[in-house]
Amino acid sequence: MSQLIDSFGREITYLRLSVTDRCDLRCNYCMAEKMTFLPRKDLLSLEELEQLSSAFIDRGVRKIRITGGEPLVRRDIMTLIKGLGRYKEAGALDEVTVTTNGTQLHKYAKDLKAYGVERINVSLDTFDADKFAKLTRRDALDQVLRGLDAAQEAGLSVKINAVALKGINDTEIADMVRRVHGRGMEMTLIEVMPLGVIDGDRVDQYVPLTEIRERLERDFTLIDSAKRTGGPARYVKVKETGGTLGFISPLTNNFCAGCNRVRVTCTGQIYMCLGHSDKLDLRAALRSERPDENLAQALDLAMRRKPEKHFFDIKDRGAPPAVARHMSVTGG
Ligand code: 5AD
Ligand code: SF4
Repeated sequence: MSQLIDSFGREITYLRLSVTDRCDLRCNYCMAEKMTFLPRKDLLSLEELEQLSSAFIDRGVRKIRITGGEPLVRRDIMTLIKGLGRYKEAGALDEVTVTTNGTQLHKYAKDLKAYGVERINVSLDTFDADKFAKLTRRDALDQVLRGLDAAQEAGLSVKINAVALKGINDTEIADMVRRVHGRGMEMTLIEVMPLGVIDGDRVDQYVPLTEIRERLERDFTLIDSAKRTGGPARYVKVKETGGTLGFISPLTNNFCAGCNRVRVTCTGQIYMCLGHSDKLDLRAALRSERPDENLAQALDLAMRRKPEKHFFDIKDRGAPPAVARHMSVTGG
């Protein structure tokens, strides 16, 4: 079957598949304390998630990232990971990866590795237990640190994703870089994005990565790297630590031109762009009389509707978010 390719000529080879919108943390830039999650009956089953993945693989997707909410809180999620691992083993996929907050890693790290996952992204914004508790509204840093240990013991490559947050971790980032690189992990910094209503105002959280980079350059020598992953991150090598540091700057540096991905939610909605609300329902196609045909058609339509780029801004206090949906719906 034919490669997915959008109307701007971009080949879509990367699927980010959210398996739940639920999470055991409540990071204050991501969610409100009180969230209404999707009713469980609306979720795709694990079999359907695999069937959907298979349709994407048929259309040239080579990499699948399992995400959430927090993917490892979905019951029996390892069944899906194991299933996708078989595609990888058969050479139909290059990579299966997972984005997690790390709270369940102590339980699952070994199995992830056994099923063919080689790299994981762990979202962790601070190494300070009090800040962590305040930021995520849950006292779980120790559990996450145990998870990181388990991941490294299992032989997984770990990348720490940290959202830069004014007044929370912006003064801690150099220390985080030292600590993360010191234990042989990579790190990527992310600008907070205006997705979904939260309890506070993101104007109070947003700090541009251009500013963070300037500050880091007082402590470190940052050497621009040619490394590209087809994604939004730009990388530097930190001379003093020898480690890699990525910058994802959707606000200060738009990176849409090379976009190679689409996102599917746990109810089978495909979002063609993180920064737009347009979506298509793949669940209906999947559950129709002729799923193969209808899915192929829906994917063709999705390709035609994939927008060229997003536009984010966090300037005006009290302004509604650019996109109403929370990050936890699509998993970033
Ligand atoms: N802006 C930027 N990053 C966010 N994340 C969640 N919500 C937001 C937001 N509004 C991050 C998480 C995780 C990744 C999936 O997205 O911290 O690293
Ligand atoms: Fe959960 Fe990730 Fe959102 Fe934090 S950022 S509440 S860990 S989904």
